[in-house]
Amino acid sequence: MDVHSWRGHFPSDKSTTFEIKVTFAPRSNPDECEQQIRVELAGRQRFLDEEDNYVPALHANPKSDRRWQHKSMSQRSTPQSADSHCDDVDRKIVADVRDLKIRFRRADDTVYAVNGVSFQVKAHEKIAFVGESGCGKTVTGLSLLGLLPKSATLSGTIEINGRNLLSLSKDELRDVRGREVAAVFQDPMTSLNPVLTIGEQLNETLSAHAKIGRRDARVRSAELLQLVGISGGSERLKSFPHQLSGGMRQRVMIAMAIAMKPAILVADEPTTALDVTTQALVLEQLCNLTEEFDTSLVLITHDLSVVARIVDRVIVMYAGFIVESAPSIPLYRTPAHPYTVGLLNSVPRLGGNATTYRPIEGSLPDARVEPHGCPFEQRCAWRLAKCKEEMPALKPHGGSVNHLVACHNPVLPTEIRLGRPEERLRRTSTTNMTEEI
Ligand SMILES: Nc1ncnc2c1ncn2[C@@H]1O[C@H](COP(=O)(O)OP(=O)(O)O)[C@@H](O)[C@H]1O
Ligand code: SF4
Ligand SMILES: [Mg+2]
Repeated sequence: MDVHSWRGHFPSDKSTTFEIKVTFAPRSNPDECEQQIRVELAGRQRFLDEEDNYVPALHANPKSDRRWQHKSMSQRSTPQSADSHCDDVDRKIVADVRDLKIRFRRADDTVYAVNGVSFQVKAHEKIAFVGESGCGKTVTGLSLLGLLPKSATLSGTIEINGRNLLSLSKDELRDVRGREVAAVFQDPMTSLNPVLTIGEQLNETLSAHAKIGRRDARVRSAELLQLVGISGGSERLKSFPHQLSGGMRQRVMIAMAIAMKPAILVADEPTTALDVTTQALVLEQLCNLTEEFDTSLVLITHDLSVVARIVDRVIVMYAGFIVESAPSIPLYRTPAHPYTVGLLNSVPRLGGNATTYRPIEGSLPDARVEPHGCPFEQRCAWRLAKCKEEMPALKPHGGSVNHLVACHNPVLPTEIRLGRPEERLRRTSTTNMTEEI
């Protein structure tokens, strides 16, 4: 192993020093780690992938990083859900969701919003739920907070630190919210009170969950603002939400959400309303803070490109189902579900041309019809005859227990860029494909 290190300080802030340590590791065990180069910046680990892209760290504590340790297949359990198997098998499970079904019963019909999803969130883990609008990401996130509307009926289990939310009283739920699970939503203006200063709102959050005096709450609030990159601490506390920019309001929301050091932070499209430059900054801050506060992050987004370098694991949802789940690098390199491939190919690439940008044709199935067979069947170029009748189970793919796919006919690596099945290989095995492929 070859280690190089450099020390320096940031030009904009000469008081902050940093050390960059680069470790070149031999590729002795390709199963455990796809990166060859480890970078430590200011004590935090960062990884570079094969294209020298900067990949945020897996978790906060470099000393506990086990990506570099060998873990044999026998040490890993067989998954039955989109669980985290990417690293520490013994890391604490903070959220354990099993066979969650969410329905909205209305006068004339039922909306089948979530159709039996199972997943775990482990301590310090960052996961992203991705999928088009209407796939069930938000209601899944809200279920972790016990915040679904009264019209929703739920079945399955949602355990947060071992307590099943579905069996808690309203008061117990309130206690879990904020202290154990907190949330940041897309539009901070709907969550912030326009007639209270941000200081008053931060103080209120702090004193709602802990015994804290007014003076301490003020000091803590100013500290929190500083942590989310808002300078001028105590003066800023006197500002009303409308006096802040969109990016700042979202950072205030992050400060409020993280204030009680929750076990999990659910961030639902937290940067969608912001401009692209601010998006990147706010996301970076969100990640750094969750690392600093030992909080697991559940990031919800319709934009796969946003989460590429941020999370440890991506869960792809379609029509209320989990269709693929994998650590982020394998998911981006070798997506196996036709829907994930469609999502990736519909992200415009820098330097790409019109042929590399292909939106997925068609639309989501009607959520008011009870699902039967694979929900992606109507839009899928890989479909087989049985896809219409049989919903495939989520199971390990490509010899990796970390990579789970629910598909009867997964995409081959050579077909990813192509965006459709290879004619030569598929014609014989399909019965109802269109002639065009
Ligand atoms: N309060 C509600 N009443 C009825 N249907 C709802 C309600 N909230 C969400 N839905 C439906 O549940 C499905 C999933 O919605 P949502 O979780 O918001 O999707 P996403 O966040 O992935 O865009 C959609 O079909 C949506 O119309
Ligand atoms: S191949 Fe079949 S199971 Fe797989 S996504 Fe397409 S329709 Fe669904
Ligand atoms: Mg949503």
